[in-house]
Amino acid sequence: MNEELLPETSGAFAAPPILVTGGAGFIGSNFVLDWLENEAAPVVNLDLLTYSGNLENLASLAQASTPPERYTFVHGDIADTALLTQLFAEHRPRAVVHFAAESHVDRSILGPEAFLRTNIDGTFRLLEAARAHYATLAGTERDAFRFLHVSTDEVYGTLAPTDPPFAETTPYAPNSPYAASKASSDFLVRAWHHTYGLPTLITNCSNNYGPFQFPEKLIPLVLLNALAGKSLPVYGDGQQVRDWLFVRDHCSAIRAVLVGGRLGQTYNIGGNNQRANLDVVKTLCALLDELRPAAQPYAQQIRYVQDRPGHDRRYAIDARKIQAELGWYPVDTFETGLRRTVEWYLANGDWLANITSGAYKRWIEDNYSARAPQSPSSDLRSSDQEESPTFQPVGTAKGLA
Ligand code: NAD
Ligand code: DAU
Repeated sequence: MNEELLPETSGAFAAPPILVTGGAGFIGSNFVLDWLENEAAPVVNLDLLTYSGNLENLASLAQASTPPERYTFVHGDIADTALLTQLFAEHRPRAVVHFAAESHVDRSILGPEAFLRTNIDGTFRLLEAARAHYATLAGTERDAFRFLHVSTDEVYGTLAPTDPPFAETTPYAPNSPYAASKASSDFLVRAWHHTYGLPTLITNCSNNYGPFQFPEKLIPLVLLNALAGKSLPVYGDGQQVRDWLFVRDHCSAIRAVLVGGRLGQTYNIGGNNQRANLDVVKTLCALLDELRPAAQPYAQQIRYVQDRPGHDRRYAIDARKIQAELGWYPVDTFETGLRRTVEWYLANGDWLANITSGAYKRWIEDNYSARAPQSPSSDLRSSDQEESPTFQPVGTAKGLA
Protein backbone atom coordinates (compact mmCIF):
# COMPACT_ATOMS: atom_id res chain seq x y z
CA MET A 1 0.00 0.00 0.00
CA ASN A 2 1.44 3.36 -0.97
CA GLU A 3 0.81 5.80 1.87
CA GLU A 4 2.86 8.43 0.06
CA LEU A 5 0.87 8.44 -3.14
CA LEU A 6 -1.20 11.53 -2.55
CA PRO A 7 0.44 14.74 -1.33
CA GLU A 8 1.03 14.76 2.44
CA THR A 9 -1.52 16.44 4.68
CA SER A 10 -1.70 17.58 8.31
CA GLY A 11 -2.30 15.24 11.25
CA ALA A 12 -5.81 16.63 11.65
CA PHE A 13 -6.46 15.36 8.15
CA ALA A 14 -5.12 11.89 8.85
CA ALA A 15 -7.27 9.68 6.66
CA PRO A 16 -9.24 11.86 4.32
CA PRO A 17 -11.01 9.83 1.67
CA ILE A 18 -11.18 10.38 -2.04
CA LEU A 19 -14.65 10.99 -3.48
CA VAL A 20 -15.26 8.78 -6.52
CA THR A 21 -18.31 9.49 -8.68
CA GLY A 22 -19.74 6.68 -10.81
CA GLY A 23 -17.81 4.07 -8.85
CA ALA A 24 -20.42 1.37 -9.48
CA GLY A 25 -19.95 1.54 -13.25
CA PHE A 26 -17.45 -0.35 -15.38
CA ILE A 27 -14.29 1.74 -15.00
CA GLY A 28 -15.33 3.32 -11.70
CA SER A 29 -15.76 -0.04 -9.95
CA ASN A 30 -12.45 -1.31 -11.32
CA PHE A 31 -10.90 1.92 -10.05
CA VAL A 32 -12.41 1.57 -6.55
CA LEU A 33 -11.08 -2.00 -6.29
CA ASP A 34 -7.70 -1.01 -7.70
CA TRP A 35 -7.47 1.98 -5.37
CA LEU A 36 -8.29 0.04 -2.22
CA GLU A 37 -5.75 -2.63 -3.19
CA ASN A 38 -2.99 -0.07 -3.67
CA GLU A 39 -3.63 3.06 -1.60
CA ALA A 40 -4.24 4.03 2.02
CA ALA A 41 -6.90 6.71 1.57
CA PRO A 42 -10.50 5.46 1.95
CA VAL A 43 -13.10 5.79 -0.79
CA VAL A 44 -16.52 7.46 -0.75
CA ASN A 45 -18.38 6.25 -3.83
CA LEU A 46 -21.27 8.43 -5.08
CA ASP A 47 -23.33 6.67 -7.72
CA LEU A 48 -26.93 7.05 -8.92
CA LEU A 49 -27.08 3.38 -9.98
CA THR A 50 -28.46 4.02 -13.44
CA TYR A 51 -28.82 1.03 -15.78
CA SER A 52 -25.00 0.71 -15.98
CA GLY A 53 -24.28 1.07 -12.27
CA ASN A 54 -24.06 -2.25 -10.48
CA LEU A 55 -23.16 -2.80 -6.83
CA GLU A 56 -22.39 -6.44 -7.65
CA ASN A 57 -19.17 -5.14 -9.22
CA LEU A 58 -18.05 -4.25 -5.71
CA ALA A 59 -19.32 -7.37 -3.93
CA SER A 60 -15.75 -8.54 -3.30
CA LEU A 61 -15.31 -5.61 -0.89
CA ALA A 62 -17.90 -7.11 1.43
CA GLN A 63 -16.48 -10.60 0.98
CA ALA A 64 -12.99 -9.35 1.76
CA SER A 65 -14.34 -7.78 4.95
CA THR A 66 -13.16 -4.33 3.97
CA PRO A 67 -13.31 -2.25 7.16
CA PRO A 68 -16.30 0.11 6.95
CA GLU A 69 -14.05 3.14 7.38
CA ARG A 70 -12.23 2.21 4.15
CA TYR A 71 -15.26 2.26 1.87
CA THR A 72 -18.58 4.14 1.92
CA PHE A 73 -21.28 3.92 -0.73
CA VAL A 74 -23.67 6.84 -1.26
CA HIS A 75 -26.64 6.36 -3.56
CA GLY A 76 -27.19 9.73 -5.21
CA ASP A 77 -26.92 12.09 -8.13
CA ILE A 78 -23.93 14.27 -9.05
CA ALA A 79 -26.49 16.91 -10.03
CA ASP A 80 -27.90 17.07 -6.47
CA THR A 81 -26.22 20.16 -5.02
CA ALA A 82 -27.61 19.70 -1.51
CA LEU A 83 -26.29 16.14 -1.36
CA LEU A 84 -22.89 17.22 -2.69
CA THR A 85 -22.62 20.02 -0.14
CA GLN A 86 -23.41 17.57 2.63
CA LEU A 87 -20.90 15.00 1.32
CA PHE A 88 -18.06 17.51 1.04
CA ALA A 89 -18.76 18.84 4.56
CA GLU A 90 -19.04 15.39 6.12
CA HIS A 91 -16.14 13.59 4.41
CA ARG A 92 -13.81 16.47 3.49
CA PRO A 93 -12.33 14.48 0.58
CA ARG A 94 -8.74 15.18 -0.44
CA ALA A 95 -9.60 14.49 -4.08
CA VAL A 96 -12.55 13.99 -6.43
CA VAL A 97 -12.20 11.38 -9.19
CA HIS A 98 -15.12 12.00 -11.51
CA PHE A 99 -16.26 9.02 -13.61
CA ALA A 100 -20.06 9.43 -13.40
CA ALA A 101 -21.51 9.88 -16.87
CA GLU A 102 -23.80 8.58 -19.52
CA SER A 103 -21.19 6.66 -21.51
CA HIS A 104 -22.67 4.85 -24.51
CA VAL A 105 -22.51 6.48 -27.95
CA ASP A 106 -25.48 4.55 -29.39
CA ARG A 107 -27.68 5.59 -26.47
CA SER A 108 -26.64 9.22 -27.02
CA ILE A 109 -27.84 8.95 -30.61
CA LEU A 110 -31.22 7.53 -29.64
CA GLY A 111 -31.67 9.84 -26.61
CA PRO A 112 -29.19 12.69 -26.15
CA GLU A 113 -30.96 14.56 -23.35
CA ALA A 114 -29.71 12.38 -20.50
CA PHE A 115 -26.16 13.00 -21.73
CA LEU A 116 -26.55 16.76 -21.50
CA ARG A 117 -28.11 16.46 -18.07
CA THR A 118 -25.53 14.19 -16.45
CA ASN A 119 -22.35 14.89 -18.38
CA ILE A 120 -22.71 18.67 -18.64
CA ASP A 121 -25.08 19.84 -15.91
CA GLY A 122 -23.94 17.12 -13.48
CA THR A 123 -20.27 18.01 -14.00
CA PHE A 124 -21.11 21.71 -13.57
CA ARG A 125 -22.80 21.06 -10.22
CA LEU A 126 -19.97 18.84 -9.05
CA LEU A 127 -17.43 21.51 -10.00
CA GLU A 128 -19.41 24.15 -8.09
CA ALA A 129 -19.63 21.97 -4.98
CA ALA A 130 -15.91 21.21 -5.20
CA ARG A 131 -15.14 24.91 -5.62
CA ALA A 132 -17.18 25.78 -2.52
CA HIS A 133 -15.37 23.05 -0.58
CA TYR A 134 -11.97 24.17 -1.87
CA ALA A 135 -12.72 27.70 -0.63
CA THR A 136 -12.95 26.33 2.93
CA LEU A 137 -9.50 24.68 2.78
CA ALA A 138 -6.22 26.18 3.92
CA GLY A 139 -2.58 25.17 4.15
CA THR A 140 -1.64 21.59 3.31
CA GLU A 141 -5.28 20.52 2.97
CA ARG A 142 -5.71 23.11 0.24
CA ASP A 143 -2.41 22.22 -1.43
CA ALA A 144 -3.36 18.55 -1.52
CA PHE A 145 -6.84 18.91 -3.01
CA ARG A 146 -7.38 17.66 -6.59
CA PHE A 147 -10.36 17.41 -8.95
CA LEU A 148 -9.65 14.75 -11.59
CA HIS A 149 -12.09 14.60 -14.49
CA VAL A 150 -12.15 11.32 -16.43
CA SER A 151 -12.77 11.95 -20.11
CA THR A 152 -12.46 10.29 -23.47
CA ASP A 153 -10.49 10.37 -26.72
CA GLU A 154 -13.81 10.83 -28.56
CA VAL A 155 -13.65 14.59 -27.89
CA TYR A 156 -10.95 14.81 -30.59
CA GLY A 157 -13.21 13.50 -33.35
CA THR A 158 -12.06 11.07 -35.98
CA LEU A 159 -8.75 10.23 -37.71
CA ALA A 160 -7.94 9.27 -41.28
CA PRO A 161 -5.82 6.09 -41.65
CA THR A 162 -2.52 8.00 -41.93
CA ASP A 163 -3.22 10.80 -39.43
CA PRO A 164 -0.99 10.93 -36.36
CA PRO A 165 -2.66 9.82 -33.10
CA PHE A 166 -4.50 12.31 -30.88
CA ALA A 167 -2.14 14.43 -28.77
CA GLU A 168 -3.20 16.72 -25.91
CA THR A 169 -2.84 19.61 -28.38
CA THR A 170 -5.21 18.11 -30.98
CA PRO A 171 -8.19 20.47 -31.45
CA TYR A 172 -11.51 19.23 -30.12
CA ALA A 173 -13.97 18.06 -32.81
CA PRO A 174 -16.63 15.90 -31.10
CA ASN A 175 -18.97 14.12 -33.49
CA SER A 176 -21.60 12.28 -31.41
CA PRO A 177 -23.93 13.71 -28.76
CA TYR A 178 -21.93 11.67 -26.22
CA ALA A 179 -18.61 13.12 -27.41
CA ALA A 180 -20.07 16.65 -27.50
CA SER A 181 -21.32 16.30 -23.92
CA LYS A 182 -17.92 15.04 -22.73
CA ALA A 183 -16.13 17.83 -24.63
CA SER A 184 -18.45 20.34 -22.95
CA SER A 185 -17.63 18.92 -19.54
CA ASP A 186 -13.90 19.06 -20.31
CA PHE A 187 -14.27 22.75 -21.18
CA LEU A 188 -16.11 23.40 -17.91
CA VAL A 189 -13.29 21.74 -15.96
CA ARG A 190 -10.71 23.76 -17.87
CA ALA A 191 -12.60 26.99 -17.16
CA TRP A 192 -13.00 26.21 -13.45
CA HIS A 193 -9.23 25.89 -13.23
CA HIS A 194 -8.46 28.95 -15.32
CA THR A 195 -11.06 31.24 -13.75
CA TYR A 196 -11.41 30.01 -10.18
CA GLY A 197 -8.08 28.28 -9.64
CA LEU A 198 -9.67 24.91 -8.86
CA PRO A 199 -6.79 22.36 -8.92
CA THR A 200 -8.06 20.25 -11.79
CA LEU A 201 -6.65 17.45 -13.92
CA ILE A 202 -8.22 15.95 -17.06
CA THR A 203 -7.53 12.52 -18.53
CA ASN A 204 -8.64 11.56 -22.05
CA CYS A 205 -8.53 7.81 -22.50
CA SER A 206 -9.12 5.44 -25.38
CA ASN A 207 -11.50 2.43 -25.41
CA ASN A 208 -11.40 0.35 -22.24
CA TYR A 209 -12.23 -3.33 -21.90
CA GLY A 210 -12.14 -5.80 -19.03
CA PRO A 211 -14.27 -7.22 -16.20
CA PHE A 212 -17.60 -5.60 -15.26
CA GLN A 213 -18.21 -3.86 -18.61
CA PHE A 214 -21.91 -3.58 -19.32
CA PRO A 215 -22.80 -5.72 -22.37
CA GLU A 216 -24.01 -2.83 -24.51
CA LYS A 217 -20.37 -2.15 -25.50
CA LEU A 218 -18.72 -4.12 -28.30
CA ILE A 219 -16.55 -6.63 -26.43
CA PRO A 220 -18.98 -7.86 -23.73
CA LEU A 221 -21.89 -7.72 -26.19
CA VAL A 222 -20.05 -9.99 -28.60
CA LEU A 223 -19.09 -12.39 -25.80
CA LEU A 224 -22.64 -12.55 -24.49
CA ASN A 225 -24.20 -13.05 -27.91
CA ALA A 226 -21.61 -15.60 -29.00
CA LEU A 227 -22.29 -17.76 -25.96
CA ALA A 228 -26.05 -17.42 -26.48
CA GLY A 229 -25.78 -18.51 -30.13
CA LYS A 230 -26.96 -15.08 -31.33
CA SER A 231 -25.69 -12.79 -34.10
CA LEU A 232 -22.49 -10.82 -33.58
CA PRO A 233 -23.42 -7.40 -35.01
CA VAL A 234 -20.62 -5.58 -36.83
CA TYR A 235 -21.53 -2.01 -37.76
CA GLY A 236 -20.92 -1.03 -41.38
CA ASP A 237 -17.82 -2.63 -42.87
CA GLY A 238 -16.21 -3.36 -39.49
CA GLN A 239 -13.04 -1.49 -40.46
CA GLN A 240 -13.42 1.28 -37.87
CA VAL A 241 -10.35 1.39 -35.65
CA ARG A 242 -10.28 1.76 -31.87
CA ASP A 243 -7.23 1.92 -29.57
CA TRP A 244 -7.88 -0.59 -26.78
CA LEU A 245 -6.66 -0.40 -23.17
CA PHE A 246 -7.19 -2.94 -20.40
CA VAL A 247 -9.24 -1.22 -17.70
CA ARG A 248 -6.77 -1.80 -14.85
CA ASP A 249 -4.12 0.04 -16.88
CA HIS A 250 -6.51 2.99 -17.11
CA CYS A 251 -6.88 2.84 -13.31
CA SER A 252 -3.12 2.92 -12.72
CA ALA A 253 -2.83 5.85 -15.14
CA ILE A 254 -5.43 7.81 -13.19
CA ARG A 255 -3.56 7.14 -9.95
CA ALA A 256 -0.36 8.37 -11.58
CA VAL A 257 -2.02 11.58 -12.79
CA LEU A 258 -3.56 12.17 -9.36
CA VAL A 259 -0.13 11.97 -7.74
CA GLY A 260 2.07 13.74 -10.22
CA GLY A 261 -0.09 15.48 -12.81
CA ARG A 262 0.52 19.18 -13.26
CA LEU A 263 -2.49 21.27 -12.27
CA GLY A 264 -4.72 22.39 -15.10
CA GLN A 265 -3.15 19.87 -17.48
CA THR A 266 -4.63 17.18 -19.69
CA TYR A 267 -3.09 13.71 -20.03
CA ASN A 268 -3.98 11.34 -22.86
CA ILE A 269 -4.08 7.66 -21.89
CA GLY A 270 -3.86 4.77 -24.35
CA GLY A 271 -2.29 1.40 -24.84
CA ASN A 272 -1.08 1.71 -28.44
CA ASN A 273 -3.37 -1.15 -29.45
CA GLN A 274 -5.15 -0.04 -32.61
CA ARG A 275 -7.46 -2.72 -33.97
CA ALA A 276 -10.25 -2.77 -36.57
CA ASN A 277 -13.59 -3.81 -35.04
CA LEU A 278 -13.89 -6.86 -37.28
CA ASP A 279 -10.45 -8.05 -36.10
CA VAL A 280 -11.51 -7.58 -32.47
CA VAL A 281 -14.65 -9.64 -33.05
CA LYS A 282 -12.70 -12.39 -34.84
CA THR A 283 -10.09 -12.48 -32.08
CA LEU A 284 -12.87 -12.87 -29.50
CA CYS A 285 -14.35 -15.69 -31.55
CA ALA A 286 -10.98 -17.44 -31.73
CA LEU A 287 -10.52 -17.15 -27.96
CA LEU A 288 -13.98 -18.61 -27.39
CA ASP A 289 -13.27 -21.42 -29.87
CA GLU A 290 -10.30 -22.30 -27.68
CA LEU A 291 -11.80 -21.76 -24.22
CA ARG A 292 -15.48 -22.73 -24.78
CA PRO A 293 -15.64 -24.69 -28.05
CA ALA A 294 -19.06 -24.95 -29.71
CA ALA A 295 -20.30 -27.12 -32.58
CA GLN A 296 -19.41 -24.42 -35.14
CA PRO A 297 -16.68 -21.75 -35.05
CA TYR A 298 -18.14 -18.67 -33.35
CA ALA A 299 -17.08 -16.46 -36.29
CA GLN A 300 -19.97 -17.97 -38.25
CA GLN A 301 -22.29 -15.86 -36.09
CA ILE A 302 -20.81 -12.57 -37.38
CA ARG A 303 -23.38 -10.38 -39.16
CA TYR A 304 -22.87 -6.98 -40.76
CA VAL A 305 -25.56 -4.52 -39.76
CA GLN A 306 -26.40 -0.93 -40.57
CA ASP A 307 -23.71 1.48 -39.45
CA ARG A 308 -23.86 3.89 -36.51
CA PRO A 309 -24.84 7.39 -37.77
CA GLY A 310 -21.79 9.68 -37.82
CA HIS A 311 -19.56 6.75 -36.89
CA ASP A 312 -16.00 7.89 -36.16
CA ARG A 313 -13.62 5.96 -38.39
CA ARG A 314 -10.49 5.80 -36.28
CA TYR A 315 -9.24 6.70 -32.81
CA ALA A 316 -5.62 6.48 -31.69
CA ILE A 317 -3.89 7.95 -28.66
CA ASP A 318 -0.46 9.48 -28.40
CA ALA A 319 0.39 8.70 -24.76
CA ARG A 320 3.92 10.11 -24.75
CA LYS A 321 3.11 12.93 -22.32
CA ILE A 322 1.97 10.70 -19.46
CA GLN A 323 4.83 8.31 -20.19
CA ALA A 324 7.49 11.04 -20.19
CA GLU A 325 6.17 13.11 -17.28
CA LEU A 326 4.78 10.44 -14.99
CA GLY A 327 6.52 7.25 -16.09
CA TRP A 328 3.19 5.46 -16.67
CA TYR A 329 3.06 2.48 -19.04
CA PRO A 330 0.33 -0.14 -19.49
CA VAL A 331 1.03 -3.62 -18.16
CA ASP A 332 -1.30 -5.62 -20.41
CA THR A 333 -1.01 -6.03 -24.14
CA PHE A 334 -4.21 -6.42 -26.14
CA GLU A 335 -3.59 -10.18 -26.30
CA THR A 336 -3.07 -10.69 -22.54
CA GLY A 337 -5.85 -8.27 -21.58
CA LEU A 338 -8.39 -9.78 -23.96
CA ARG A 339 -7.65 -13.30 -22.77
CA ARG A 340 -8.07 -12.20 -19.14
CA THR A 341 -11.34 -10.52 -20.09
CA VAL A 342 -12.78 -13.56 -21.88
CA GLU A 343 -11.75 -15.80 -18.98
CA TRP A 344 -13.45 -13.41 -16.55
CA TYR A 345 -16.75 -13.39 -18.48
CA LEU A 346 -16.68 -17.17 -18.81
CA ALA A 347 -16.14 -17.51 -15.06
CA ASN A 348 -18.83 -14.97 -14.14
CA GLY A 349 -21.98 -16.16 -15.86
CA ASP A 350 -24.06 -15.19 -12.83
CA TRP A 351 -22.93 -11.57 -13.08
CA LEU A 352 -23.96 -11.51 -16.74
CA ALA A 353 -27.27 -13.25 -16.09
CA ASN A 354 -28.14 -10.79 -13.31
CA ILE A 355 -27.63 -7.67 -15.40
CA THR A 356 -29.29 -8.84 -18.57
CA SER A 357 -32.66 -7.89 -17.16
CA GLY A 358 -35.81 -6.62 -18.85
CA ALA A 359 -34.30 -3.15 -19.24
CA TYR A 360 -31.29 -4.64 -21.01
CA LYS A 361 -33.51 -6.60 -23.39
CA ARG A 362 -35.44 -3.42 -24.22
CA TRP A 363 -32.21 -1.61 -25.09
CA ILE A 364 -31.09 -4.42 -27.40
CA GLU A 365 -34.45 -4.26 -29.14
CA ASP A 366 -34.27 -0.44 -29.46
CA ASN A 367 -30.72 -0.38 -30.81
CA TYR A 368 -30.64 -3.37 -33.11
CA SER A 369 -34.15 -3.97 -34.45
CA ALA A 370 -33.93 -0.84 -36.60
CA ARG A 371 -30.51 -1.76 -38.02
CA ALA A 372 -31.00 -3.37 -41.39
CA PRO A 373 -28.64 -6.23 -42.14
CA GLN A 374 -25.95 -5.03 -44.48
CA SER A 375 -23.64 -6.59 -46.98
CA PRO A 376 -20.04 -5.40 -46.70
CA SER A 377 -18.34 -4.49 -49.98
CA SER A 378 -16.83 -7.56 -51.59
CA ASP A 379 -13.22 -6.69 -50.82
CA LEU A 380 -14.07 -6.37 -47.13
CA ARG A 381 -16.23 -9.46 -46.88
CA SER A 382 -14.93 -11.86 -44.25
CA SER A 383 -14.27 -15.48 -45.10
CA ASP A 384 -16.82 -16.39 -42.42
CA GLN A 385 -19.43 -14.36 -44.23
CA GLU A 386 -18.72 -16.17 -47.47
CA GLU A 387 -19.39 -19.46 -45.77
CA SER A 388 -22.77 -18.19 -44.65
CA PRO A 389 -24.10 -15.88 -47.36
CA THR A 390 -27.58 -15.38 -45.94
CA PHE A 391 -27.46 -12.36 -43.66
CA GLN A 392 -29.93 -12.92 -40.90
CA PRO A 393 -31.61 -9.84 -39.52
CA VAL A 394 -30.53 -9.18 -35.98
CA GLY A 395 -33.25 -9.06 -33.38
CA THR A 396 -34.94 -12.18 -34.73
CA ALA A 397 -34.85 -15.85 -33.80
CA LYS A 398 -31.09 -16.12 -34.30
CA GLY A 399 -30.80 -12.39 -33.47
CA LEU A 400 -29.98 -10.35 -30.46
CA ALA A 401 -33.17 -9.92 -28.56
P1 NAD B 1 -20.54 3.24 -17.19
O1 NAD B 1 -21.73 3.64 -17.97
O2 NAD B 1 -20.18 1.80 -17.06
O3 NAD B 1 -20.66 3.81 -15.70
C1 NAD B 1 -21.18 5.07 -15.43
C2 NAD B 1 -21.51 5.13 -13.94
O4 NAD B 1 -21.98 6.45 -13.62
C3 NAD B 1 -22.62 4.16 -13.53
O5 NAD B 1 -22.28 3.51 -12.33
C4 NAD B 1 -23.83 5.07 -13.32
O6 NAD B 1 -24.76 4.57 -12.37
C5 NAD B 1 -23.15 6.34 -12.83
N1 NAD B 1 -23.96 7.55 -13.06
C6 NAD B 1 -24.59 7.91 -14.21
N2 NAD B 1 -25.24 9.08 -14.02
C7 NAD B 1 -25.00 9.46 -12.74
C8 NAD B 1 -25.38 10.58 -11.96
N3 NAD B 1 -26.16 11.55 -12.47
N4 NAD B 1 -24.94 10.66 -10.68
C9 NAD B 1 -24.16 9.68 -10.15
N5 NAD B 1 -23.79 8.60 -10.84
C10 NAD B 1 -24.19 8.49 -12.12
O7 NAD B 1 -19.32 4.07 -17.81
P2 NAD B 1 -17.78 3.70 -17.93
O8 NAD B 1 -17.54 3.02 -19.21
O9 NAD B 1 -17.35 3.09 -16.67
O10 NAD B 1 -17.17 5.17 -18.06
C11 NAD B 1 -16.82 5.91 -16.89
C12 NAD B 1 -16.23 7.24 -17.32
O11 NAD B 1 -15.09 7.03 -18.13
C13 NAD B 1 -17.19 8.10 -18.15
O12 NAD B 1 -17.02 9.44 -17.76
C14 NAD B 1 -16.70 7.90 -19.59
O13 NAD B 1 -16.98 9.03 -20.36
C15 NAD B 1 -15.21 7.72 -19.36
N6 NAD B 1 -14.51 6.90 -20.37
C16 NAD B 1 -14.96 5.65 -20.70
C17 NAD B 1 -14.23 4.87 -21.60
C18 NAD B 1 -14.68 3.48 -21.98
O14 NAD B 1 -14.08 2.88 -22.88
N7 NAD B 1 -15.69 2.91 -21.34
C19 NAD B 1 -13.05 5.38 -22.18
C20 NAD B 1 -12.63 6.68 -21.82
C21 NAD B 1 -13.36 7.41 -20.91
O1 DAU C 1 -12.99 5.85 -27.14
C1 DAU C 1 -13.46 5.88 -25.82
C2 DAU C 1 -14.93 5.54 -25.80
O2 DAU C 1 -15.02 4.14 -26.06
C3 DAU C 1 -15.61 5.89 -24.49
O3 DAU C 1 -15.56 7.28 -24.30
C4 DAU C 1 -17.06 5.41 -24.49
O4 DAU C 1 -17.65 5.64 -23.22
C5 DAU C 1 -17.08 3.92 -24.78
O5 DAU C 1 -18.41 3.48 -24.87
C6 DAU C 1 -16.32 3.62 -26.08
O6 DAU C 1 -17.05 4.15 -27.21
P1 DAU C 1 -17.20 3.32 -28.58
O7 DAU C 1 -18.37 3.83 -29.30
O8 DAU C 1 -15.89 3.25 -29.30
O9 DAU C 1 -17.47 1.85 -27.94
P2 DAU C 1 -18.47 0.68 -28.37
O10 DAU C 1 -18.08 -0.51 -27.56
O11 DAU C 1 -19.90 1.11 -28.32
O12 DAU C 1 -18.09 0.42 -29.87
C7 DAU C 1 -16.77 0.07 -30.24
C8 DAU C 1 -16.74 -0.02 -31.75
O13 DAU C 1 -17.49 -1.16 -32.15
C9 DAU C 1 -17.36 1.17 -32.43
O14 DAU C 1 -16.64 1.46 -33.62
C10 DAU C 1 -18.77 0.71 -32.78
C11 DAU C 1 -18.59 -0.77 -33.00
N1 DAU C 1 -19.74 -1.62 -32.64
C12 DAU C 1 -20.32 -1.47 -31.42
C13 DAU C 1 -21.39 -2.23 -31.04
C14 DAU C 1 -22.05 -2.03 -29.70
C15 DAU C 1 -20.18 -2.61 -33.52
O15 DAU C 1 -19.62 -2.78 -34.61
N2 DAU C 1 -21.25 -3.37 -33.14
C16 DAU C 1 -21.89 -3.22 -31.95
O16 DAU C 1 -22.89 -3.93 -31.68
